[in-house]
Amino acid sequence: MKRLAKKTCLIGSGKGGVGKSTVTVNLAITLAAKGAKVALFDADLYGPSLPILLGLRELSPQVNERGEVLPIPKFGVHTLSAGFFFEESRSLLWRGPMLHKMLAKMLEESAWPPLDFLFIDLPPGTGDVPLSLSKLLSLDGALLVTTPEEVAIADVRRALDAFAHLNIPIGGIIENMASFQDPETGKLFYPFGKEKGKQLAREFHLPCLASLPLIEGIREGAEVGVPYAFSHAQKNPFSLLADNFLSLYTEGKGEM
Ligand SMILES: Nc1ncnc2c1ncn2[C@@H]1O[C@H](COP(=O)(O)OP(=O)(O)OP(=O)(O)O)[C@@H](O)[C@H]1O
Ligand SMILES: [Mg+2]
Repeated sequence: MKRLAKKTCLIGSGKGGVGKSTVTVNLAITLAAKGAKVALFDADLYGPSLPILLGLRELSPQVNERGEVLPIPKFGVHTLSAGFFFEESRSLLWRGPMLHKMLAKMLEESAWPPLDFLFIDLPPGTGDVPLSLSKLLSLDGALLVTTPEEVAIADVRRALDAFAHLNIPIGGIIENMASFQDPETGKLFYPFGKEKGKQLAREFHLPCLASLPLIEGIREGAEVGVPYAFSHAQKNPFSLLADNFLSLYTEGKGEM
């Protein structure tokens, strides 16, 4: 099995729209700013969003002399996405074997720089993609993103079960959209419920790596292709997530 980085981590959730791609991009950029060599692989072939989140729409990656595709560097991170190869409005009606072939082709026919961390942004659900990836790549773990609401938590439970079957260890849970602070009054709101992600982490004896707030700028950054962790590099909630991630995957030794 191929090893593309010192540590390769899936970012999944179960439920769609909880912020997997947004968290992945911002975590990667934060780690890169801390000195790690980081890359992103967009495994959401049906709905690739990394080109949008990173402002890489309509860009095509270069190809080296061996015909291998070069992941595109931006914000200190190298990225490869199926979105680079298909028109944005084109839908893919592929079954599992076709999906597997595309993932295999993208991973086998690409040239990655030396990497500390490769993050793989998964599509929602527990379908064919994690299964295919577990056959193609040597995987070190998965992080699960959830909002603190029951419908999302129920899907995470299914994802935990699926990853256990695939023998992929879970590194931790990331609570996203965990709170909202009214910018005028400073009052905290919990639009998606409170602390359910933390409770789930406790139940499964997993670390809760971060409770990320709902911030308008995170969504705005995603829309214009300039991630919040880049535009607010001095202070943002992804920094603590990155530190917790580093102590988890470098056993607190700070080595990368
Ligand atoms: N902490 C946050 N604060 C504000 N907006 C957020 C936050 N996290 C994610 N979002 C927004 O929520 C929406 C969904 O995020 P995203 O696309 O990252 O979710 P996803 O889990 O990857 O979705 P999918 O399952 O479709 O792949 C986007 O509009 C994004 O900008
Ligand atoms: Mg996504």
